Parts: sequence; structure tokens; C-alpha cells
Amino acid sequence: MDDKVIIFDTTLRDGEQVPGCQLNTVEKIEVAQALENLGVDIIEAGFPISSPGDFKSVVEISKSVTNPIICALTRAVKKDIEVAAEALQYAKRKRIHTGIGTSPFHIEHKIRTTPEEIIRRASDSVKYAKKFVEDVEFYAEDAGRSDNEYLAKVIEAVIKAGATVVNIPDTTGYCLPEEYGAKIKFLKDNVPNIDKVIISTHCHNDLGMATANTIMGVINGARQVEVTVNGIGERAGNTSLEEIAMIIKSHHDLNLRTDINTKMIYSISRLVSTLMSMPVQANKAIVGKNAFAHSSGIHQDGVLKKRDNYEIIDPVEVGIRESSIILTARSGRAALNHRLELLGFKLNKEEIDDIYHSFLQLADKKKDINDEDIRILTGEVSHGEKKLKLEHLQVACGKSVMPVATVGLRVNGEVHVATSTGNGPIDAAFTAVKQLISKTVHLEEFLIQAITKGSDDLGKVHIQVEHQGNIYYGFSANTDIITASVEAFIDAISKIK
Ligand code: KIV
Ligand code: ZN
Repeated sequence: MDDKVIIFDTTLRDGEQVPGCQLNTVEKIEVAQALENLGVDIIEAGFPISSPGDFKSVVEISKSVTNPIICALTRAVKKDIEVAAEALQYAKRKRIHTGIGTSPFHIEHKIRTTPEEIIRRASDSVKYAKKFVEDVEFYAEDAGRSDNEYLAKVIEAVIKAGATVVNIPDTTGYCLPEEYGAKIKFLKDNVPNIDKVIISTHCHNDLGMATANTIMGVINGARQVEVTVNGIGERAGNTSLEEIAMIIKSHHDLNLRTDINTKMIYSISRLVSTLMSMPVQANKAIVGKNAFAHSSGIHQDGVLKKRDNYEIIDPVEVGIRESSIILTARSGRAALNHRLELLGFKLNKEEIDDIYHSFLQLADKKKDINDEDIRILTGEVSHGEKKLKLEHLQVACGKSVMPVATVGLRVNGEVHVATSTGNGPIDAAFTAVKQLISKTVHLEEFLIQAITKGSDDLGKVHIQVEHQGNIYYGFSANTDIITASVEAFIDAISKIK
């Protein structure tokens, strides 16, 4: 059997069904192009009959993407299929994804018909889709809870009708991995014409088993997996693309491969998270903030001796510069010394012991110790006069007003002024600051927190900026969050050597 696992990405269809995560067409094109660069084989671009916006997105994605097959979803309904075919007219390679429910729940309580009628409708819809496109994928909705014997009959019929791919969704995320794997094996062993098609998995994560189920499907003969970036999707989400790509890459024993350029995983994860305003949970496998962060002393020591002691994936493989050693009250001398060395300090054992003592005292008070704290502990930096200081700030913003900010920045004793517009007052002020400094900096992280409750709160701002591959942290607190943001930005920039 072919060792290639085809990656069918449904971030823009099943993923985009998440309430509050809707993208406009321009944003969808940006994601589709990033998916193409990532190396996915198929992009499910939308459900054209569902809305004019979805229709337009399928049309525009078809025009702007070259290599992946563009797929459009339909129900087993003639009108859906006609509209999907029309939306796909510009796609260089196109697929219609049609289907119907096959579980007793769906047959009796949703479609309210008979099992025989379902087979007829399934096969008619595939035949109808074949009039428009060669490549037709059939989905047996709620296959996870469908009877295997009956499912085999449906699948045999749709293959006879011309389906090229058969999708076996665990729509409700109910199956156990063994059960889902056995379902795929049952179809392989009992559907006489199954060798004419590719079997696809489509697993939901309601019980946290989507990735395990998908892998069991592949082990049992599926060669297409339906996935989303960051595992986004209805309810608890779909199988996550990055998890499948990295399982296949890490487990050589599976003898499988994908065409995913894994080094682009982190950037597309950030893109999707930002555009959909859907934060990635910190402990999410592969792309979470903590996925390559070590905080306990024992682990830090182990990783510093040899990365493989506690890491099975080199973060560089997924596009993350390096694993991070987070300095906390649980860190040991090895981790502290490692950070000191990265900052250019070469200290002897007694000096490290001394600093370690003050480090622990500070770490008891402060959750996360940054480079600036370390420099202060070594005595290299005093809290004295700063080389950059916000002298004054004036912003104008509001509804139907173009945000504009004027910043006065004291640079080595002299005040320089710049004015800029932006997409909001903070963006305008940051752009003005950037005009006043000679360095190129990228904002990596920006966190605003209220210290207490109420509108008269102090706002705390933490910022990370990147300059020539190094990260610099800035902090400020102020009742005016715009001032706090600009001060934190300047604080971070002023640490660049
Ligand atoms: O979960 C599901 O069953 C689906 C189908 C429409 C493929 O998303
Ligand atoms: Zn789904």
C-alpha cells in the first residue's frame, strides 16, 4: 500500500464553523495560500450553498491556489451539488464532497427515512456530482456510530456510483481508537470494490481521541486524513493537522509520510489563531506556548545535558527557534547558569551560588524571571536612568476617527517627536516609536492584564519584541493602558544592546 498519507485540510470549512471564528474572503485566501505553502494536498474551502460569503470564498480560493485540490462540501441534495460545481469553476483541480447520515440516529431522527432510501440518495448524489467533476468524495455522516455491515453496503454503493474517496467521519467523536481502527479494517475487508478508492478519516475530538482515532484509521488502511490547523472545529474540534504530521514524521516505525513542510507549522498555527481570534491553549501538543518549555529543575538539567532526554521533537522541525528554559522558583543552578551564559556571563561556582540565592528569593515573588532580572541580579544593570524614556504621549481615537498618536521619546537625554496613524491608538503609538529608533523590532507578544477589577484599574502590560533573533521583554503598569503599552514597548526596546 502507498506510504503517503494525503492531508485534507478542513480549517476553512469544518474549522471555520466555530462560532466567532468566521473569516472574510481576504483572510481565507491568506490561510489557503499558507496551507498551499505548508504542503497540504486538499483544501476544503467551504460549503458554497450555505451562504453567499462561503460561495465567494470557494470561488476566490480556487483562483488563488494552484497545487492543492480545492474541495467544496454539499449535502446529498442536487441544488447543493450544482452550486458547489459553480463555485469550483476556477479551480485547477476540483473535488465535490457530498454525503448523508448513516447512523440509526441520523436515519431515524434527523433524516427520518429508511436505510434503503439513504443508500439510494447517497448513490444518486455521487452520480449527480460526477456529472460536474471527476473527483467525488462521499461522506457517511456519523459513520462512527453506524452499524459496520450497513456502512459497508452504503460504501459499496457509492463506489459503484463513481466515488473516488470515501470518508468515514466519527462526527460525534464517540469512537474508541480500537473501535475506529476496526471500522476501517472492516470496510477494507468487507467492501468488495474498496480497492478502487481512498479511505479517508474525519475525526472529532469530543472525548479527546481525534488524533488517536485518526492514527488508528491510518494504521488500518486509510490513506487520507481530514484535519484542521490547531485542531479547531465544531465543539471540541477536529483532528489537529500538526499532531498528525509530527506523529507520522516522528514514528518511522509506521513507514508513512506526508508532504507537509513541518518547519512551517508554527507560523500557520499563529496565523490561524490570530485571524480567527482563537488562542491556542498553552499545553497544546506541538504548537502550544509550553510545548517546548521546561520549567522544573530536573527536566531543565536533563534537557541541558541532552535535549532528547525530555524532548522527542526538535522544535526547529516545527518552526520554533529553540526550546525554552523558563526560570522559576523550581529551576536549578544548571538552568540559571545556562541563561547567564546565553547573556554572556561567565561566572565561577561561588558567583553562581551567590546569584542563585538571590534568584530564588526573587523567583518566590515573581512567577517568571526574565533576562533583565538576571542582569540586575548580576549587578550589571542598575535601576538608574534609562537610555530611552517616554516623555509625552498624545492619542486621538474613537468611533469613525482615524487613530493618531504623537510620541515624545527621550533618547540619551534628547527629546525626539514623531506622529503616526494606525489601526488603533496603540498601533499608531508603536509605529511612531518605531520611527524614532534606528532598530528593526517585531512585536512577538503583547499581554494586557487588569491588576484589580473596575474601570479605574491599573493595567499591566507585558511585551516581548524580537530584534536580530533575540527576544527582549518589557513591562509597565499604568491606569492608562495606552501609556502602559507604549512604556512597556519602550522598556523592551531599551534593553536591546
Ligand atoms: O463531521 C462530519 O461528519 C463532517 C462531514 C460533513 C464531513 O464534517
Ligand atoms: Zn466534521
